[in-house]
Amino acid sequence: MKKDLIALKTRALEDLKKINDISGLEEFRIKYLGKKGLLSAFMKNIGKLPPEQRPEIGKIANEIREKITTEYEGLKKRLQQKEKRERFIDVTLPGRRHERGHIHPITTVINEVCEIFSKMGFRIVTGPEIELDYYNFEALNIPKDHPARDMQDTFYITENLLLRTHTSPIQVRVMEVQKPPVAIICPGKVYRRDSDVSHTPMFHQVEGLLVDKSVTFGDLKGVLTLFVHKMFGKETKVRFRPSFFPFTEPSAEVDIQCVICKGKGCRTCGFTGWLEILGSGMVDPEVYKFVGYDQEEYTGFAFGMGIERIAMLKYGIEDIQLFYKNEMRFLGQFL
Ligand code: PHE
Repeated sequence: MKKDLIALKTRALEDLKKINDISGLEEFRIKYLGKKGLLSAFMKNIGKLPPEQRPEIGKIANEIREKITTEYEGLKKRLQQKEKRERFIDVTLPGRRHERGHIHPITTVINEVCEIFSKMGFRIVTGPEIELDYYNFEALNIPKDHPARDMQDTFYITENLLLRTHTSPIQVRVMEVQKPPVAIICPGKVYRRDSDVSHTPMFHQVEGLLVDKSVTFGDLKGVLTLFVHKMFGKETKVRFRPSFFPFTEPSAEVDIQCVICKGKGCRTCGFTGWLEILGSGMVDPEVYKFVGYDQEEYTGFAFGMGIERIAMLKYGIEDIQLFYKNEMRFLGQFL
């Protein structure tokens, strides 16, 4: 029995040397020092020995238990300290980098459009997003029964107050207070009750207006063609297609050669080879009546474009909603 005890001690101390973490140490404690451990089993057997042998064996067993316990406690302390050290912050490690903000792609395109027109002499003007029915519709020759006035399309606040559905009311506000020559470019948010892959209830437009003596449709074509060439590249073909707006006459929609297929026909251009990018026309003389301009003396042209659409075409984006999801993986591509 004495031999067995000594062998147990040797084994325990060897085992202890191999331990290098707290969980291993706990296994050791259960195996040797626990209530059902090897040492306890030995202790129980002492009672079965002849009485004269009990004191000696008991003493050895106690000494061994003490020895193993001290070694165990010592290792426990060392392991705990080691773990604490490992949890310390290593101040020599490089810090976490903060993401740097950058300009939203919609803002970038607005800035680009405004810059192109600024260089041609257009002045940047803005107007209110909460607008009077008068400026949004009435003074733009949009009669009361026009479908654009339907509750389905327009966010009304009261009968006379609404969220502007386009940037055209700014034209009226400027002409009211400024005599020709007028050349303005007006970026801003507009609102319509619409939401799908190509529509969001809020989107951005840029409006342009030029009024002076003897402005012609040729001027409109020249200015807008130059804009397309600056925005999409000199080689991009442009076409003017007859259209209708209540506040311009004649009116034209401007198409550019499809930026994806270069005119061959693809899904993006609906296999026509062309993409519509803006609405335009000669200011309807009816509008001059509202602002007190002499329709014999002045002529002018106006145009309006959707910025999201331009950005989608320029960057090849298929879903307009991406602009407003604040998804960093998307926005991060426009650094
Ligand atoms: N306001 C028109 C729209 O939102 C665009 C436009 C502006 C057309 C100026 C002609 C002249 O659809």
